[in-house]
Amino acid sequence: MKRAAIKGVMGYLPEDKLTNTDLEKLVDTTDEWIKTRTGISERRILKKEGWASSDMGAEAVKGLLKKTNTSPDEIDLLICATVTADMVFPDNANTICNKSGINNAFGFDINAACSGFLYSLTTGAKFIESGMCNKVIVVGTDMMSSIIDYTDRTTCVLFGDGAGAILLEASTDDTGIINSQFGGDGAGSAFLHMKAGGSKKPATVETVMNREHFVYQEGRSVFKYAVKGMANSINTVMKRSGLNAEDINWVVPHQANLRIINSVASSAGVPLEQVMINIHKYGNTTSGTLPLCLWDYESQLKKGDNLILTAFGGGFTWGATHIKWSYDGSDFSS
Ligand code: UT7
Repeated sequence: MKRAAIKGVMGYLPEDKLTNTDLEKLVDTTDEWIKTRTGISERRILKKEGWASSDMGAEAVKGLLKKTNTSPDEIDLLICATVTADMVFPDNANTICNKSGINNAFGFDINAACSGFLYSLTTGAKFIESGMCNKVIVVGTDMMSSIIDYTDRTTCVLFGDGAGAILLEASTDDTGIINSQFGGDGAGSAFLHMKAGGSKKPATVETVMNREHFVYQEGRSVFKYAVKGMANSINTVMKRSGLNAEDINWVVPHQANLRIINSVASSAGVPLEQVMINIHKYGNTTSGTLPLCLWDYESQLKKGDNLILTAFGGGFTWGATHIKWSYDGSDFSS
């Protein structure tokens, strides 16, 4: 069977930083609480005039094309994972193509909250495996600062802005995206959602006054489901691929909370040195966390490494994917 391989990865982060000390001035919190309960020290916030999530995605995509020596005309499909598209419609994918000079592709968005990038990666891989596309870009981009209430201490300390993108092509060897397991539970929407702005409750003066256009989260419940969902998916994917803990070179977890990451790593039996972690620098960038991890750690990746990616998010949505890495990261001087 044809297999899809990741051929390059690129990230984009806004320059402006929002530190825990900055947040201490906005809400009743402390640097110590945030660090010990979440592992986050700072996050990036997009402040560039007129810019939105598609601009961060387009920057990552343009960098990816350049880095992989790929002409924009070669791209057949671009999938964008996001919960903060520039507009309710059209999608971000076509906007990103337009901003990146990609003219021969079709595109669409996937909204699976924090699992969006993982779902999009497998979706993109299927278009390669089926032979329908030769080159696919998957981008995860979220401007979480546009939907965060900076008077709510339970959510505003968690999220940041950022984007990452990967290039998929057919694999020429046994490396590539090997298998995925995903799960969903709509009952989870009670614990993590945005109350207004959708067709259920369109925007009115009242919804704005009631601050209903922001992320609502019951953190403690989400925490429990997240740990369980990711651990179960990793377990299934490892079994399907016949992997033991010692066969795994890297766990690449969604970056929502360092305590969740620690717990997921320990249930997979993988030491923390082999777990990609950048939550301290960027917070939770939703669709951006996984590609930004791959980007940060790319130089340490070797061809043939076994990576387990895992994510959990609103929906609930969750899953894990086994990738046999396709190139030596040191080949790219990103
Ligand atoms: O990526 C999408 C999926 N999302 C997640 O995976 C997030 C999962 N949940 C979490 O990461 C954690 O539940 C949080 C970080 C959101 C919260 O941590 P927690 O340890 O579960 O805290 P808690 O909600 O149980 O709250 C404990 C206390 C409460 O005070 P009381 O009621 O005990 O007096 C909160 O009001 O901590 C308080 N608290 C804060 N205190 C200082 C909540 N937020 C803050 C804050 N600063 N920022």
